[in-house]
Amino acid sequence: QQFAIGIDIGGTGTKFGIVNHRGVISHKGDDIATNTFKKVEDFVDALYIALKPAIDQIGINHLKGIGIGAPNGNYYSGTIEYAPNLHWRGIVPLAKLISERFGLPSSLTNDANAAAVGEMMYGAAKGMKDFIVITLGTGVGSGIVANGHLIYGHDGFAGELGHTIIRPGGRKHWSTSLDGSLEAYASATGIAITAREMLENSDKSSLLSAYQPEKINSKIVYDCAMKGDEISKEVYRFTGQILGEALANFVMFSSPEAIILFGGVIKAGDLIMKPTKEHMEKNLLPIFQNKVKLIFSELKEADAAILGASALVWEMRD
Ligand code: BGC
Ligand code: NA
Repeated sequence: QQFAIGIDIGGTGTKFGIVNHRGVISHKGDDIATNTFKKVEDFVDALYIALKPAIDQIGINHLKGIGIGAPNGNYYSGTIEYAPNLHWRGIVPLAKLISERFGLPSSLTNDANAAAVGEMMYGAAKGMKDFIVITLGTGVGSGIVANGHLIYGHDGFAGELGHTIIRPGGRKHWSTSLDGSLEAYASATGIAITAREMLENSDKSSLLSAYQPEKINSKIVYDCAMKGDEISKEVYRFTGQILGEALANFVMFSSPEAIILFGGVIKAGDLIMKPTKEHMEKNLLPIFQNKVKLIFSELKEADAAILGASALVWEMRD
């Protein structure tokens, strides 16, 4: 039983791998397009089919279990509850469904919490006792570690910082009732909305005009910004400002040693990092200024979440 399966469920893609005790990931497959499965059972089936050859090769007796990171995931109950960026409604008993399909024990936690554990064990947060991971993907999530422990809270949902309101009365969220939330702006989804809005309200010429507005996504905005497009660069300045203001609030809440940014959006590098840092510092009390490291995940994309999810398995009792 030297191996664990780690699964990272995202609003767009689900990533997975088989992990050994030293945190080496093997058998990574292609992403599974999470929201193409209307029924969660079909999604579980697709995962099983994708992993079956690897399981057979390793031998099921060498696998200890399955760890899952998921949006709106609850560690206490193994359920996903009302995830704003997934198509499965209500309360989904995912850990149970996966256990039954695979014939292995499983454990589930919030995806950003999994990323935080991965960073703590194998990544940028090694040796740190107080840090926050912010995941910037289809949604915005967070894992808060204080005094060496991940904060779960009374109900198991602690750390939903993506849904904190950063612009009261601001942008309508596409799925929750929390308008003006950090996620409405700083997610990949939010970046695309900002680009469409800026394009519409500007008479500057822009490379973005080559696309139908509804086709514009964060990848296109990034590509255009790299080609020097002014509006696309402005999108990142605005996104970084909002993110930086939010991070300042989070810093004053738990006084972390570092904030680690993780997820697809960080591919934009300095485009997002510079304004974020500037506005974070600007909005901090002097006692917090120039103390908190703002860094990108060092692990490859999603690896921290796969590793952190698999770490749940090592905690399981034999
Ligand atoms: C969910 C979080 C999740 C984040 C990133 C948010 O919409 O509410 O639980 O961590 O997206 O996937
Ligand atoms: Na969390």
